Amino acid sequence: MAKNKTVYVCQNCGAESSKWIGHCPACKEWNTYREELITLSPGPGVTRDAPRRKPELLSGIEVNESDRITSGIGETDRILGGGLVRGSLILMGGEPGIGKSTLALQIALSTEGRRVLYVSGEESEGQVKLRAKRLEGKNDACFIYNETELESMIAQAVAIRPELLIIDSIQTLNSSVLESSAGSVSQVRECAAMLLRYAKESGVPVILIGHITKDGSLAGPKVLEHIVDVVLQFEGDGNYLFRILRPVKNRFGSTAEIGIFEMGSGGLREVTDPSELFIRRDRDPASGVSIAATVDGLRPFMIETQALVSSAVYGTPQRSTTGFDTRRLNMLLAVLEKRAGFRLAVKDVFLNIAGGLKVSDPAIDLAVVSSVLSSSLDAPVGQHTAFAGEVGLSGEIRPVARIEQRIMEASRMGFEQIVISGYHKSIREQPGVQISKVYKVEGLVRLLFS
Ligand code: TYD
Ligand code: MG
Repeated sequence: MAKNKTVYVCQNCGAESSKWIGHCPACKEWNTYREELITLSPGPGVTRDAPRRKPELLSGIEVNESDRITSGIGETDRILGGGLVRGSLILMGGEPGIGKSTLALQIALSTEGRRVLYVSGEESEGQVKLRAKRLEGKNDACFIYNETELESMIAQAVAIRPELLIIDSIQTLNSSVLESSAGSVSQVRECAAMLLRYAKESGVPVILIGHITKDGSLAGPKVLEHIVDVVLQFEGDGNYLFRILRPVKNRFGSTAEIGIFEMGSGGLREVTDPSELFIRRDRDPASGVSIAATVDGLRPFMIETQALVSSAVYGTPQRSTTGFDTRRLNMLLAVLEKRAGFRLAVKDVFLNIAGGLKVSDPAIDLAVVSSVLSSSLDAPVGQHTAFAGEVGLSGEIRPVARIEQRIMEASRMGFEQIVISGYHKSIREQPGVQISKVYKVEGLVRLLFS
């Protein structure tokens, strides 16, 4: 017999408590407990239910690796490891307005004649139609369904038998079995579990769109991340057009790949050559600009770093960065002050990474330091020079991962020189690009400005 019970559930991590508490012992968040009504159905007893399935020998299981369907978009297929695996549950998270619905609709429209069910709890059919008109793809077999109730949505999916199911978004769905409101942890968990069952039984891949909280984690339901097979994070700065789709978890492929898109009037466009976007080839030589050979995921690309060093107008010098960690900049400035004798403590320093990208690759240090030095000395760095190296606290230039890929990319993009750490051993030369090795920041100063 079903029983009703109320519990208090942390809306951040899903921890439960029988009474209200202000501070979650599991995730340390404050004020996240909400009362939720749960209906308990009798659990499967140890002896009561005959097992429905039997264990199988691993050697006897047959799977077809190529049993994937294309998402219709090259970048998405690539980061998924070659397409959507049948019966898999994919969660796509991102901040509001980043382009989740746009990408999902583009996937739905990418292949003419493929039956797709796009369930939108956020937008009416008309709104989706308006958006679809602006996008490039066309698919006459795409169904749009405005529904928030899980059970009727699944009933429709069973009737329509789509090849792909898209839910926009998991937070708007609610199961009539539970009384708590849509978006609460128990609803999200229940809906995801039901959709997982649907996906596994029907073999239809399901793409779930999920919202992200202020601190950047997938809203509330950490629980979701355990249930789904793939978690994709959509990142980007609303003020810029670039978007990065990053796999955070992938049961069927690597999480090292990233997909890069550009938002335009016709929706999201794949960026196959990011270097072309993040550096400007036509600029006049200016001080304070240098190019880093960076790697994000498995992808090498060139990116412009810009620094502006000026005398502090107010007492305390300002340090401001976009796309780079301010603490890291402060550390690099201290290294320059201590190891190379640059008096930067009294200067305002501004640092900018092109395109609104956030770069966490330590190899970008060398370009940052070069930009700061270049602005401080008001002497441009050669336009055909790229940098890849990490700067240590004692001013040493440290070797970085995937250096050969970086050099290859510099060569491909027509750079004439790349400055790297002297500690790299046996580096293969690339045509057209001269490799300059430096061991310390002092060496860098000498190389660039004497
Ligand atoms: P959307 O996909 O609605 O974001 P999300 O679902 O993640 O909240 O994207 C909304 C933004 O994208 C909106 O600010 C407008 C912009 N956009 C374009 O620039 N071009 C387009 O073709 C479309 C459809 C949207
Ligand atoms: Mg949306």
